[in-house]
Amino acid sequence: MEDGKKKLAIVGAGAVGTAAAHWAVSRCMADLVVLVDVVEGLPQGKALDIAQSAPLSGFHGRLSGSNDYGDTKDSDVIIITAGLARKPGMSREDLLAKNVGIVKSVTAEVASLSPKACIIVVTNPIDAMVYTAFKISGFPRQRVVGMAGVLDSARYRFFIAQVLGVSPSDVNALVMGIHGDHMLPLVRLATVGGVPIEALLPKEEIERIIHKTQHGGAEIVGHLKTGSAFTTPGLAAVEMAESILKNQKRVMPCAAYLEGEFGINGVFLGVPLVLGDKGIERILEFPLTSEEKDALQESVLAVKRQVAATGL
Ligand code: LAC
Repeated sequence: MEDGKKKLAIVGAGAVGTAAAHWAVSRCMADLVVLVDVVEGLPQGKALDIAQSAPLSGFHGRLSGSNDYGDTKDSDVIIITAGLARKPGMSREDLLAKNVGIVKSVTAEVASLSPKACIIVVTNPIDAMVYTAFKISGFPRQRVVGMAGVLDSARYRFFIAQVLGVSPSDVNALVMGIHGDHMLPLVRLATVGGVPIEALLPKEEIERIIHKTQHGGAEIVGHLKTGSAFTTPGLAAVEMAESILKNQKRVMPCAAYLEGEFGINGVFLGVPLVLGDKGIERILEFPLTSEEKDALQESVLAVKRQVAATGL
């Protein structure tokens, strides 16, 4: 946007896009938030409902809903949530065939209207959809990033805090790799107030937490039956957008296009990185153990299978 003002576009007014719009206006992180969807009336109605909470919640900044991609013009950040969500029994890969077409057409629209924007992809399967957005937009890798590590790490931290009976904010933990069953919650780097969890929890308990983290999304789909998680996925995308819009340089695990980092080339994978107003400012590479490297290779193979299925 002009004059130092910040504009955030959220594409897709489903559950995740709506949650993201709500979190974004509540945090006053942009001068204008635009919620776009192809379904007539849906983004307008959702935006109006959220906007009317302003007198009660005290936020300022504008929110509007639209069916016209033209209203996303000159956005600083675009969050793509458009696409189908999982139902019970579906894997994220089952969504691929439908969502790749949606992400292709959305990306082509928004990228031409906001050629300097950073794109955050949330649509599943995220690691293949972010690759799709990267290829279609032609943007440099710094400006195309996938959400998932932030969500998966939040789940990991939550489960650790629950078991230990401590504040979730005092748990520091990182999940790398694919947003799927092969994701890699790192055990040796997980700490509570600086104390390693390995010193506080038996091995079997840690294994149980890892399993819960890897299947955190499926557990919620199983309960909901008609859709998947939306509140925390929406907030995870908004945390990333906020770091870019406010140049906070937060360190978060996100899916980035790797060009040799961690010995991996040519795929998007969740790694710790710094997000600032130029997008990905730095990938924080560090030595992995041989078990961690092997586990990350499982992610690489799974992402490559997904990408092959996109036909790109
Ligand atoms: C989940 C969806 C967003 O993990 O993949 O809840």
